[in-house]
Amino acid sequence: MDKFVIAGGAALHGEIPTNGSKNAALPALAAALLTAEPVVLHRIPRVRDIRTIERLLVDIGSRTEVDGETVRLHTPEIVCPEAPYELVKTMRASSLVLGPLVARCGRARVSLPGGCAIGARPINLHIFGLEQLGARINQAHGYIEAEAPQGLRGAVVQFDRITVTGTEDLMMAAVLAKGETVLRNAAREPEVVDLAALLTKMGARIEGAGSSTIRIEGVERLGGAEHTVIPDRIEAGTFLIAGAITAGDVTVTDCLPEHLGALVSKLQQAGVEVTQPDAATLRVRGGGRLRSVDMTTEEYPGFATDLQAQYMALMTQAEGIAIIIETIFDNRFMHAQELARMGANIRVEGRQAIVAGPHVLTGAGVIASDLRASASLVLGALVAKGETVIDRVYHIDRGYEKIETKLARVGAHIRRVE
Ligand code: EPU
Repeated sequence: MDKFVIAGGAALHGEIPTNGSKNAALPALAAALLTAEPVVLHRIPRVRDIRTIERLLVDIGSRTEVDGETVRLHTPEIVCPEAPYELVKTMRASSLVLGPLVARCGRARVSLPGGCAIGARPINLHIFGLEQLGARINQAHGYIEAEAPQGLRGAVVQFDRITVTGTEDLMMAAVLAKGETVLRNAAREPEVVDLAALLTKMGARIEGAGSSTIRIEGVERLGGAEHTVIPDRIEAGTFLIAGAITAGDVTVTDCLPEHLGALVSKLQQAGVEVTQPDAATLRVRGGGRLRSVDMTTEEYPGFATDLQAQYMALMTQAEGIAIIIETIFDNRFMHAQELARMGANIRVEGRQAIVAGPHVLTGAGVIASDLRASASLVLGALVAKGETVIDRVYHIDRGYEKIETKLARVGAHIRRVE
């Protein structure tokens, strides 16, 4: 298993480019199942979760060609409408094939995800939504089987809590349903909007993506399309925090600043200088005194839960007490104990973490527990005195493409060892 060895203390200086969004690419790849024609997707990050869904799509019946960051998918027919446990247990987003499969061939068998390092992650709302659209659902042996032999029909689906992939799954189911579907209390994340843009290019009729009510008028069939996915706002945000925590001067290029509003606001309140040199670039200059600022995670456009761990690393270096409240997941503080091993003063009480700073961090052996937790340990290590060894970096490889290369180019002392 690979490890990162990081010698802390170097201020980062320079430009870091942003990759395409993992969480926009995953549903875009699944959407290719909705048509027998080729779908060409650009800016697909070469991260592990993407390889996992590509494997799943091949098993289902897609022919895939990967050329750098471009993926061409062609699914003349669905060979096996199934997402097996072996894949779902490594990546929950595999449930994104549920909606497209039922829509395209009237049938899907998808393993239920089990426990997860960041808390319970049921898919009851995906299932509820499909039932509203007329699918018959059977649950047995750890799998759910959905059937709609006569096709799905439009309906009103009222989510009782906001779910990102649930909204995406239902949108993909509804595009081929008979009549109109209305998704209420839908997720407003940019990744949902990006999926709607791709589906529209394929011939779908969707209105309201980006708001909490999405209307979909089902069509008979969808065609091929070519689409470039949006930049990864979480990767970009992680690099902005890297600049701030090391008191460096980092310019993050190829991003969409409007997707990073909540983070930029917190950084500015904490005393970090953030500027926007152009429409696709953000620059952070640290070095001043960092102030503690409380933060509560929220659905978009609030502060993303996927940046909570990284923000916590930053707050260990800020003066005062920051109260961080996690409202999206019930157990997303695994990084707190590891940061504490490096010398941070963090107390976790239920869904809230109290971070008192600034505390000098010192290098230590730590373990990555999930994707974003690992990113926070990298950030802590960049500022720690001495050497940190982060074990199980396969977690970080799920969602960051060559993070060590990108950070090393701007001055970080980081290397991967096998
Ligand atoms: N929930 C339910 N029932 C459902 C679905 C969700 O109770 O049927 C609950 C979840 O347990 C959670 C909350 O609703 O407490 C929100 O979950 P959501 O469904 O929005 O999360 P997700 O769609 O599974 C996506 C991202 C996550 C990100 C969350 C929240 C993808 C592939 N994943 O997950 O990204 O944290 O939205 O923004 O888009 C990551 O990239 O590191 C990551 C975990």
